[in-house]
Amino acid sequence: MAPALDGKVCVITGATSGIGRVAAMRLAQMGARLVLVARDPQRAEAILARLRATAPAAAHRAHYADLSRIAEMKRVAAEIAAAEPRIDLLINNAGALFGSRRLTEDGLERSFAVNHMAYFVLTLGLRERLIAAAPSRVVNTASTMHRVAWFDFDDLQYARFYNGVFAYARSKLCNILFTRELARRWAGTGVTVNCHHPGFTRTRFGNQSGLFWAPLVFAAKAFAIPPAWGARTLLHLATSPEVAGVTGGYFARCRPTRPSRSAEDDAAARRLWDESARIAGTA
Ligand SMILES: NC(=O)c1ccc[n+]([C@@H]2O[C@H](COP(=O)([O-])OP(=O)(O)OC[C@H]3O[C@@H](n4cnc5c(N)ncnc54)[C@H](OP(=O)(O)O)[C@@H]3O)[C@@H](O)[C@H]2O)c1
Repeated sequence: MAPALDGKVCVITGATSGIGRVAAMRLAQMGARLVLVARDPQRAEAILARLRATAPAAAHRAHYADLSRIAEMKRVAAEIAAAEPRIDLLINNAGALFGSRRLTEDGLERSFAVNHMAYFVLTLGLRERLIAAAPSRVVNTASTMHRVAWFDFDDLQYARFYNGVFAYARSKLCNILFTRELARRWAGTGVTVNCHHPGFTRTRFGNQSGLFWAPLVFAAKAFAIPPAWGARTLLHLATSPEVAGVTGGYFARCRPTRPSRSAEDDAAARRLWDESARIAGTA
């Protein structure tokens, strides 16, 4: 039987579509109050309407931010921290594949900004609220694509050579290294942190990745699993009593799974943390 989440507060990014949308609906059905972080008010209102129809007892709400911009990540974290005294669950899930290299207004390559820096800034911004609700959980959506990634700390923003899939893969490697380092740093706080690969899932993922990748991803989706399956491991990490107390792990198909060797490199995890803190201006 699914555990009851009555009264629990869940902050989630990327819930206007795909895996995050299914997860948000399920968490609301289990009794959680959802706090969405979204960039598009129309899309967020549509999911809020469905959440309210499914679970009207909870005051679900949305905060708006474009997660590619550090100032927005910080602002939305501060807004949520001001509104929510306790956060039981934080799900960092928003992500995208970018076919061409473009820089954000902070001078960051977009996959690094949206897929990694947003997780970093939002999580650190909500630290005290997560600790206030301990035992609480952070769940990060990574990907098995991390296995084809490598690190070049001298060129984190891909100035020398850009390939959208490799940039995406590295951002997903960042998710696993961030998870490990966060688990180490927050040990003893009562907040656990884990990440997962959802499986290749039929969502809007890749639809806007440009003329080269978008048709390829579209064709490959013939073999993808439905979003309800893609959300299973996320929901397992978010709710299952089996993983209470488990921290720093990478999961696939609801089971702990060994990531690549690069994803187990704790020196790289520390270096990535320091770089991210410097970029975010929190060092
Ligand atoms: N689908 C797969 O096969 C697969 C496999 C492995 C990992 N993943 C990961 O799963 C996660 C969810 O992806 P999905 O498959 O559910 O894709 P999706 O349907 O495209 O959903 C992506 C979500 O992220 C949000 N988002 C993207 N950029 C944003 C930004 N700059 N600011 C705020 N929100 C932003 C989107 O908002 P909008 O609705 O406004 O676009 C949407 O809610 C991603 O981290 C992805 O890397 C997916």
